[in-house]
Amino acid sequence: MVYQTVMLKDGRTATLDWLKEDDLPQLVEALNSVIREGKYLFMNNEITDMEEERKWFERSRKSSVLYLVARVDSRIVGGASIHPMTEKRSHVAEFGIFIRKGYRNLGLGTALTKTFIEIAKKRGFEILQLSVYASNKRAFHVYKKCGYKKCGRLTRDVKFLNGTYTDRILMQLLLE
Ligand SMILES: CC(C)(COP(=O)(O)OP(=O)(O)OC[C@H]1O[C@@H](n2cnc3c(N)ncnc32)[C@H](O)[C@@H]1OP(=O)(O)O)[C@@H](O)C(=O)NCCC(=O)NCCS
Repeated sequence: MVYQTVMLKDGRTATLDWLKEDDLPQLVEALNSVIREGKYLFMNNEITDMEEERKWFERSRKSSVLYLVARVDSRIVGGASIHPMTEKRSHVAEFGIFIRKGYRNLGLGTALTKTFIEIAKKRGFEILQLSVYASNKRAFHVYKKCGYKKCGRLTRDVKFLNGTYTDRILMQLLLE
C-alpha cells in the first residue's frame, strides 16, 4: 500500500512505500548507481552480496529501522530512513537519504526529508541527526531548509578516492 504520493516539479508522480524484502534487488541497483558516483556516500564499493543485504534487512527490521522507497513510473529511484539509537540515546534517530541521478532537483528529497520529520515526531523521537559532506551543497541546503541546524564539523573526515578531502558536517533537528 502506498504510504504517500509526491507531485514532482516535472509533473510526474512519485510514490513512497515501506521497504519490503522483494524490493532489495532494485534498491541495491539504485544505491549502487549513487555509490559509483563516488562523491556523496560513505561506501567506496558497490553492494554485491545479496545474502548479506537480506541479513541487513532482517537486522533493520528487528532494530525498528523505518525505510521508505521512492518510485517513479514503478522504478525505485531513491530511499530514505530513520535508524533509532538505543539505551541512553533511545530518544535519537539518524536520518539518511539518497536519490539516484536523473531524479534529483525535482522536490523528492525535500518531500522525503519532511515526511521523515513527521514520522519521527509521531513515533515519539526527540531528536533527528545526520551528517553530510561539506562538498554536498545540495544536501546541506535541503536539510537546512527543512529545519536541521549545523552543530559540528569534522575537518577532513572524508578522503575521496582521487585523494581530495572534505569536512563532514553534523546536523540536528530538535523535534518539539
Ligand atoms: C541530496 C538529495 C537527497 C536531495 O534530494 P533532491 O530531490 O535532489 O532535492 P530537492 O529537489 O528536494 O531540492 C533540491 C534543492 O537544492 C537546491 N540545490 C541544487 N543544487 C544545489 C547546490 N549545488 N547548492 C545549493 N543548493 C542546491 C535546489 O535549488 C533545491 O532548492 P529549493 O528546493 O530551495 O529550490 C539528492 O540530491 C541526492 O540523493 N543526492 C545524492 C546522494 C546524497 O547526496 N545523499 C545525501 C547524503 S548526506
